[in-house]
Amino acid sequence: MTSVLMTGIGELVTNDPTVGDRSPLGLLTDAALVVADGEIAWVGQRAGAPPADTSVDVAGRAVIPGFVDSHSHLVFAGDRAAEFAARMTGEPYTAGGIRTTVAATRAATDETLTAGVGRLVAEMARQGTTTIEIKSGYGLTAHDESRALAIARQFTDETTYLGAHVVPSEYADDVAGYVDLVTGPMLEASRPYARWIDVFCEDGAFDADQARTILSAGAAVGLGARVHANQLGPGPGVQVAGEVGAASADHCTHLTDADVTALADSGVVATLLPGVEFSTRSPYPDARRLLAAGVTVAIASDCNPGSCYTSSMPLCIALAVREMRMSPAEALWAATAGGAQALRLDKVGRLGVGASADLVVLDAPSYVHLAYRPGVPLVSTVWRRGRPV
Ligand code: NIG
Ligand code: FE
Repeated sequence: MTSVLMTGIGELVTNDPTVGDRSPLGLLTDAALVVADGEIAWVGQRAGAPPADTSVDVAGRAVIPGFVDSHSHLVFAGDRAAEFAARMTGEPYTAGGIRTTVAATRAATDETLTAGVGRLVAEMARQGTTTIEIKSGYGLTAHDESRALAIARQFTDETTYLGAHVVPSEYADDVAGYVDLVTGPMLEASRPYARWIDVFCEDGAFDADQARTILSAGAAVGLGARVHANQLGPGPGVQVAGEVGAASADHCTHLTDADVTALADSGVVATLLPGVEFSTRSPYPDARRLLAAGVTVAIASDCNPGSCYTSSMPLCIALAVREMRMSPAEALWAATAGGAQALRLDKVGRLGVGASADLVVLDAPSYVHLAYRPGVPLVSTVWRRGRPV
């Protein structure tokens, strides 16, 4: 076992509130850390650092936990640049665009889809993402959903079965038949490759009863629940997430007071996806209202070819700060520890002893620069499981 001592850390974000400045970020200055066996073995002031086999000096740069992007849709073919251009000149975003990507994805080879995921995963890693959740949802047949999940599984354990993304055209007149497929043969084919099940609970997609049926079928075979909730308008998604004990309700753009209370009472993480509002020119979710109510907030990219084709967690942090009035500290926490909570993972999203050594060295003296210098490539080095990526 080779240990590495990292010194010269101008500012270290641990997300451990018992160390450093005792804030949620657990900030240390003039810090050091030791990595051994893929994990953080020691964290503290440089002066007290133990010896290690090798050392690296990061010359005053800030070090943060790798980003945990807890919501993405990376298995797809084609793009929808024309739809985006039309939207920017006045067309609204609708859930129906998903079917365009379904047609392209069904027609694509395994090799094309795998190469596409690989390209996006590499793009994410270069921007500091070290944990990724990937959903299916552009196949919508038993074969195409299980194929998407098998491909996603090559890149992450955090895979989510989203057969209930929209009702495909061939089932337009038989929605009940499609729910039977999603909860029957499609679930059976997808289950071996999935940890989670998700449903798009929205007008134009699936209603509350259908969402409950789908999520409980997933629970019966051991899949944890996540919900695309309250994205395009008010609706029952968040309440359903609370009822079934989902790990996360994602989007949360249109919430009533009762929805906010349900999130706070249930412990369901509210995953905000500000890249979507940016890319669909829509009003942002009210992050301050959620934080004031004590809801755990995560930030993720939602990277997908329709509503938001960014893979950049730094951009999402900058949007959360500028457009949703989160503090830079709240936004960074949400993009790291918040994402980990949304995936119910305890070894990532933090840099305390025993955590996975997933970290980002920034070309900046402070994490605040992620929002202060929007659009600037500040990620200098990324380590995953104790090794440079
Ligand atoms: O999270 N809301 C549903 N699904 C995606 C959009 C997918 C698409 O437009 O292709 C989302 O925004
Ligand atoms: Fe999504």
